[in-house]
Amino acid sequence: MSRDREGADLKQMKPTLIPNNPCFSSGPCAKRPGWTLDALKDAFLGRSHRAKTGKNKLAEVIQRSKKILGIPDAYQLGIVPASDTGAVEMALWSLLGERGVDVLAWESFSSGWAADCKSQLQLKDLRVLKADYGKLPDLHQIDWARDVVFAWNGTTSGVRIPNGYWIAADRPGLTICDATSAVFAMEMPWDKLDVVTWSWQKVLGGEGAHGMIALSPRAVRRLETFNPNRPLPKIFQMAKSGKLIEGIFQGETINTPSMLCVEDALDGLKWAESIGGLPALLARSKANFKCIEDWVARSSWAAFLAEDRSARSNTSICLKIKDPLFTALSADDQNLHVKSIVSSLEKEGAAYDIGAYRDAPVGLRIWGGATVETSDIQALLPWLDWAYSQARSAFAETV
Ligand SMILES: Cc1ncc(COP(=O)(O)O)c(C=O)c1O
Repeated sequence: MSRDREGADLKQMKPTLIPNNPCFSSGPCAKRPGWTLDALKDAFLGRSHRAKTGKNKLAEVIQRSKKILGIPDAYQLGIVPASDTGAVEMALWSLLGERGVDVLAWESFSSGWAADCKSQLQLKDLRVLKADYGKLPDLHQIDWARDVVFAWNGTTSGVRIPNGYWIAADRPGLTICDATSAVFAMEMPWDKLDVVTWSWQKVLGGEGAHGMIALSPRAVRRLETFNPNRPLPKIFQMAKSGKLIEGIFQGETINTPSMLCVEDALDGLKWAESIGGLPALLARSKANFKCIEDWVARSSWAAFLAEDRSARSNTSICLKIKDPLFTALSADDQNLHVKSIVSSLEKEGAAYDIGAYRDAPVGLRIWGGATVETSDIQALLPWLDWAYSQARSAFAETV
């Protein structure tokens, strides 16, 4: 291998080892190791989801999720429509407006919740605490007398909340946390979180379609005592006549779920249990992150988008390109070359869907959740070096 003035690799041998599973998308994420359609053979199809077996399967998803995640008994956990977006929106529309609201916005999804609070809910007393891609907002600015809306993991910037110490235990407001790319991969301080949402399509590699929503007793109290002054579509309604609709949290979904997706969610949960539950899931994701972290430390061209090490996501691992020859290119050219890297890796069957999210700074994003094997990440890294060196040879000629 030869090197140029800046020390970047000029020529890189094409690797021969292809990842066994090249699925590194940040959602829908890789299916669990060994998954085949056979996992769905016991799906309860062509029958009512309200028949005993159907309802039991829905309730089983709730019970197994609660157990694996260590969700306190006093919390309610329900299956709701429209994936994580549905779960977040039903929380925002049902709960907000009783008091002032602080929203943390530091990447695409969290900014989307802030925009909805402003333009759709038109909340009168709203503060948006912002940060650029790669950073977290100043958490000390939060006023715990207010409700606080935030993502635990910013999937599009690879910046995560490092821990829950900053959340006041005696907060009068509610914490509403979009944790879709965090649960099953990061420790969640449940006692500090009043509403937690996620989708099946992330860390356990399930199918999208349905969301999960966990509610603390304080969140339930808010639902039962606060009547938001806005229309609430049926699929957002979690309370009726001042009482929680308890059935939703026992497997009686608001509308019709896909029992194929339910079967797949059960398969993911059973796999999680079979490998050792939450500690094993966390360890797998941590090992994936470490593998990339060690490679980044040696890399002449790749760097983390997340500046602070403790805030680097171990699931949606976002990389930028630091090579001065690349950063000197125009934004359009940078985009073009990253697209060529992503498509050449796809063509080689080495990696699928690893381009940065459409609203995020140009770069790469590699999913490191529990369903991804560390050996596949290991096999991917030489391909990244190879694809970058190919792209670099192309643009080095033009500079
Ligand atoms: C932080 C975050 N919130 C919300 C969503 C939307 O999730 P869904 O498409 O499951 O509704 C995503 C999807 O990647 C996400 O990463």
